[in-house]
Amino acid sequence: MWPWKDGAMRRRLLLLRSLLCLVPALVAPTFGSRPRLEDFSPRIVEHPSDLIVSKGEPATLNCKAEGRPTPIVEWYKDGERVETDKEDPRSHRMLLPSGSLFFLRIVHGRRSKPDEGVYVCAARNYLGEAVSRNASLEVASEWGPGGLREGVSCV
Ligand SMILES: *[C@@H]1O[C@H](CO)[C@@H](O)[C@H](O)[C@H]1NC(C)=O
Repeated sequence: MWPWKDGAMRRRLLLLRSLLCLVPALVAPTFGSRPRLEDFSPRIVEHPSDLIVSKGEPATLNCKAEGRPTPIVEWYKDGERVETDKEDPRSHRMLLPSGSLFFLRIVHGRRSKPDEGVYVCAARNYLGEAVSRNASLEVASEWGPGGLREGVSCV
């Protein structure tokens, strides 16, 4: 054995070992910075409840969803997407930042009953979608208990 050769071999092994030690350090940052690992599909953590409201009164259907990235919340009434102030600034329905649906006033006419129905909220991100339980919004009868409204006079 020549001692110089032994030394060269050792240096080479040490170099190899330090290179191998670098591997996790080189790989880890790319791995760790991938946010996808922490992402998760939406889940509804607060479901809307059935509501009975009076015509002309404000109302709120609650919905709260978790997910990563933060899911986009949409509302459906009787299976059709509800248009809110996001699409039409004049809408009497507002999508609150929390995900809840707020009605400035419940619209309910003889022919047009746009607010009464069965609602669900749906939360979506790129990993999937979660749909809430059904919540029915019912407009209280004007002639029901305590339902005699202004504009009606009994002489
Ligand atoms: C929710 O409401 C929709 C539309 O009214 C209906 O088709 C569906 O069966 C309901 N689902 C449940 C779980 O009650």
